[in-house]
Amino acid sequence: MGFKLTEIVPWGRSYTEYVDMFALTKTDVTKKILGCGDGPASFNALLTKTGGKVISVDPLYEFSQDAIAVRIKETFAVVIEQVRLNQQEFVWNKITSVEALGNIRLSAMEAFLADYPEGVKAGRYQQMRLPVLAFPEQYFALALCSHLLFLYSEQLSESFHLAAIKELCRVSAEVRIFPLLELDGQLSRHLPAVLQQLTADGYLTQLSTVAYEFQKGGNQMLMVKQM
Ligand SMILES: C[S@@+](CC[C@H](N)C(=O)[O-])C[C@H]1O[C@@H](n2cnc3c(N)ncnc32)[C@H](O)[C@@H]1O
Repeated sequence: MGFKLTEIVPWGRSYTEYVDMFALTKTDVTKKILGCGDGPASFNALLTKTGGKVISVDPLYEFSQDAIAVRIKETFAVVIEQVRLNQQEFVWNKITSVEALGNIRLSAMEAFLADYPEGVKAGRYQQMRLPVLAFPEQYFALALCSHLLFLYSEQLSESFHLAAIKELCRVSAEVRIFPLLELDGQLSRHLPAVLQQLTADGYLTQLSTVAYEFQKGGNQMLMVKQM
């Protein structure tokens, strides 16, 4: 029995993890960025503090700061328990223990929660749900999607993946997606067909190895662009 979650949970990674997962360069972070399915990640909060331009979208942003804090608390116990039971599925070099993981995630999610009310007012956190994004064509230079597409392949169908990636390419010049593994650490069941269809439909796709690996073998990022 491997790592398993029945639903898509709000669980937030740190700014540094985003930089590593998406191989973000100094130039990348000056671009107009969309964080899709950002949930309670601290990427938006930290990038904004350093002068970056980023909008995060997620259905979670329908809720108030207090309601999200409650969801995070509920999720925390479930995810940490799953990681504890399946420690052999993860790489413990940068994050050295389950306790350290809990601390890193909690501090990222606290940074998000502290920034959330101001970010909502500024339009930096907007309630939206793939596969439909309410932005004009090519509004962003770079769209990032972490721990949603491919990871939740059991919950999200192949056709959902295709529609979501095409919508991300409609609103952004470049799209990066990480990871390409499912929750149980296996390569996404949808990846081969999605890559094949994107290529057939005229999109450029490129897989690259990045400096981030927490799920064992999960160090591949997908870049997609409209040709
Ligand atoms: C596991 S969290 C990942 C959060 C963040 N990207 C990170 O890596 O730390 C997955 C997020 O996807 C969001 N989500 C679920 N369905 C979505 C959809 N159809 N469109 C956009 N976001 C969605 C959830 O609300 C949740 O916040």
